[in-house]
Amino acid sequence: MLEQQMKRPQINKKRGFYVKMKLLHKHGRPQEKSSCCFLRYYKWLLWLSLTLYFFTSYLITNNNNNNDKLTSLSKTHAFSSSKSTVVASRALIELTLNDSLKPRVNKIGLLRDLKIYVYDLPPNFNADWLANERCSNHLFASEVAIHKALLTSEVRTFDPYEADFFFVPVYVSCNFSTVNGFPAIGHARSLLSSAVNLISSEYPFWNLSRGSDHVFVASHDFGACFHTMENVAITDGIPSFLKNSIILQTFGVTNRHPCQDVENMVIPPYVSPESVRKTLEKAPANGRRDIFAFFRGKMEVHPKNVSGRFYSKKVRTAILRKYGGDRRFYLQRHRFSGYQSEIVRSVFCLCPLGWAPWSPRLVESVVLGCVPVIIADNIRLPFAEAVRWPEISLTVAERDVGMLGIILEHVAATNLSAIQRNLMDPTVRRALLFNTPIEQGDATWQVLSTLATKLGRSHRRSAVSAQ
Ligand SMILES: *[C@@H]1O[C@H](CO)[C@@H](O)[C@H](O)[C@H]1NC(C)=O
Ligand SMILES: *[C@@H]1O[C@H](CO)[C@@H](O)[C@H](O)[C@H]1NC(C)=O
Ligand SMILES: *[C@@H]1O[C@H](CO)[C@@H](O)[C@H](O)[C@H]1NC(C)=O
Ligand SMILES: *[C@@H]1O[C@H](CO)[C@@H](O)[C@H](O)[C@H]1NC(C)=O
Ligand SMILES: *[C@@H]1O[C@H](CO)[C@@H](O)[C@H](O)[C@H]1NC(C)=O
Repeated sequence: MLEQQMKRPQINKKRGFYVKMKLLHKHGRPQEKSSCCFLRYYKWLLWLSLTLYFFTSYLITNNNNNNDKLTSLSKTHAFSSSKSTVVASRALIELTLNDSLKPRVNKIGLLRDLKIYVYDLPPNFNADWLANERCSNHLFASEVAIHKALLTSEVRTFDPYEADFFFVPVYVSCNFSTVNGFPAIGHARSLLSSAVNLISSEYPFWNLSRGSDHVFVASHDFGACFHTMENVAITDGIPSFLKNSIILQTFGVTNRHPCQDVENMVIPPYVSPESVRKTLEKAPANGRRDIFAFFRGKMEVHPKNVSGRFYSKKVRTAILRKYGGDRRFYLQRHRFSGYQSEIVRSVFCLCPLGWAPWSPRLVESVVLGCVPVIIADNIRLPFAEAVRWPEISLTVAERDVGMLGIILEHVAATNLSAIQRNLMDPTVRRALLFNTPIEQGDATWQVLSTLATKLGRSHRRSAVSAQ
């Protein structure tokens, strides 16, 4: 960056100089012969150079993405023959304008030449499930959102032979239980297995790489283990047919865990960008946050021992017992569809573990400007390179949950406004939401940019480089 800033004035000065020379030549009056004529031209030459200078700096500052191109072009022409300079500037302008009209997503940095083939599977693997509207909206819906975003993305290729990665769109989280409304994922393994059977028999690509350049979404509690209970998830493990592939999963811990014993990427849980937009529209105009600490969700007073494990490792119970009667804490145990309007009114939003460490509250808090208080030991958070979690959240150890009051008061009295300011950074919010179509910097974009760093994993690339 600094280098570019230092180079810029030099280049532009040169351009001004060459324009001057060219104009003088046109009128056939070499400078040294008649200094009077030079003086006559001088004023408007100066004006021309200045205009050109400001115009090119405008182009440069307003086209960050074309910076490299501009700099190299300017360089080439500044050092080449003087005649081409004015023409070159015109071409440069057109090039810049043409480029700026094109969609950006595939033009930026690492995504430049990434190519993804999206399998066109029969509708029983995906589209049929959309008959239930909840399928594309609930917290596991990233499996739908990423698929939709890829279909219209510039990285999509229709030629599987030029693909770096293969996306296998199977929606396993949309079989909602008629009893409790939760997604029943009991059929996930068999549905995925038949998808893999299908693609490996009808296309050559799975067998070529043993699935290692194939990408799946596993957006539930324990990711690719496909079970809501950790002990069963661990016992069942990751289905053997997925073990070579790349799994996008909401589950992530910093320690070793059988459910992430596969090449994986932590993605945020799905929160509908539309619901966030509506909540922000209705939020109090003065941005006032009258709730100090907020939590709404399952909080058991007497958690049951389910095969040796307690819901939320009893953390939520501890919060309820200690702060249930505390006026600073707004704790609610019932479901309420308008809970986002409560988040937008809150300073701190508690994000304790449930059965799994992650929760959609993490995303909702950040995008609605409430400081997330993460209470889930060893959690691995999504897109750590793009989202500077330590600067926008608080982490409280599970065993320290009894000190929440003191900790939050301390932060409120010291660095709360710094954290809130970091939370206002739009790039952070954008990175946690899945949009259709894809938007630069959004959650699907983050997935793609991480995939782009794994191009070595691509069968096609390694085959090419081995030749
Ligand atoms: C810009 O686009 C127009 C129309 O698409 C084309 O005619 C023109 O040659 C392009 N200019 C450059 C510099 O590529
Ligand atoms: C949906 O879940 C129910 C209950 O777990 C199961 O019986 C049914 O087979 C599942 N549906 C499909 C299409 O797999
Ligand atoms: C891939 O391998 C499987 C198992 O070895 C085989 O049944 C299948 O026919 C192969 N697929 C292709 C397209 O050759
Ligand atoms: C939970 O129940 C299991 C039996 O299901 C028992 O072995 C274990 O000791 C219990 N754990 C606790 C902490 O009560
Ligand atoms: C704010 O203060 C808390 C407690 O002292 C500390 O843990 C946290 O890292 C600080 N956060 C920022 C962004 O300064």
